[in-house]
Amino acid sequence: MAVSKIVQLPTANRARETHEPPSIAVARRHHATELVVRNVSKSFNIDRRPLPVLQDISLVAQPGQFITIVGASGCGKSTLLRLIAGLDRDFEGEILFGGRPVSGPSLDRGLVFQDHRLFPWLTIEQNIASAFSSRPIDTATKRLLVKDHIALVGLNGFEKAYPHQVSGGMAQRAAIARALVNEPDILLLDEPLGAVDALTRLYLQEELQRIWLQKGVTMIMVTHDIEEAVFLGDQVIVLQPRPGRISKVIDVGLTQPRDREDSRILKLKKEILGEFHNPAPINYSI
Ligand SMILES: Nc1ncnc2c1ncn2[C@@H]1O[C@H](COP(=O)(O)OP(=O)(O)OP(=O)(O)O)[C@@H](O)[C@H]1O
Ligand SMILES: [Mg+2]
Repeated sequence: MAVSKIVQLPTANRARETHEPPSIAVARRHHATELVVRNVSKSFNIDRRPLPVLQDISLVAQPGQFITIVGASGCGKSTLLRLIAGLDRDFEGEILFGGRPVSGPSLDRGLVFQDHRLFPWLTIEQNIASAFSSRPIDTATKRLLVKDHIALVGLNGFEKAYPHQVSGGMAQRAAIARALVNEPDILLLDEPLGAVDALTRLYLQEELQRIWLQKGVTMIMVTHDIEEAVFLGDQVIVLQPRPGRISKVIDVGLTQPRDREDSRILKLKKEILGEFHNPAPINYSI
């Protein structure tokens, strides 16, 4: 897969923050961003009774890979992303990022939700800049990063607009820019296109693909939409519910960008649909 960074500054910024020479930061970035989820299980307590939600989930995301996770409502997709994001640490098993256990949220792992969650009182560019929080980088660099990411998601000209002044699809693109502006190694997307209309969804899938190819960031995206999962994923992981468990892992093996009408895409789509009609026995480990 061709991966190229259009924004060069952040590697240097990260190096500055951690007092590493840029070359070391680049090496660290290249080798140390594998995500390993190993034998993860998770239960919630409802009315003092345990509700098993995830059972023995294992997956590996290589740097730059696009993994899609498809499953029915309630099968634990958001729960799994929250665990990977470090928002919930109450689980069994292991989640390692760059060889280290995930112990909480980090700028290395960006998160995009189904609804854009932009602050209504901030403009698009202020919303994107809000992701820097208290990061010690200078104003000029911040400005440049915001500008680059507005261009990346195609929102030039809307910098000063407020969220209510842009379409749902544009707001979601702003949310993606906000998640990417800190140059995370991995972007976790929880049904990011679930709230937009069907035509916008097709368009945004292609936008997401373009952004992924341009940035080379690892992406893990959960979706209900089988076609979306196959169109975008290098690997598609199929989850079955109650409790959420992996029933199939499909390596798509087609170069990106892809043609939706490609007979191999249609065949894979059919194979995954069949998985929901006839769930396979659990047989997966890393
Ligand atoms: N904080 C919580 N407390 C108790 N149960 C929860 C909690 N969060 C999620 N659950 C339960 O965990 C299960 C999985 O929820 P989750 O939100 O991960 O599913 P999902 O696959 O993302 O569904 P959807 O596609 O509808 O977003 C559901 O049965 C839900 O009721
Ligand atoms: Mg969900």
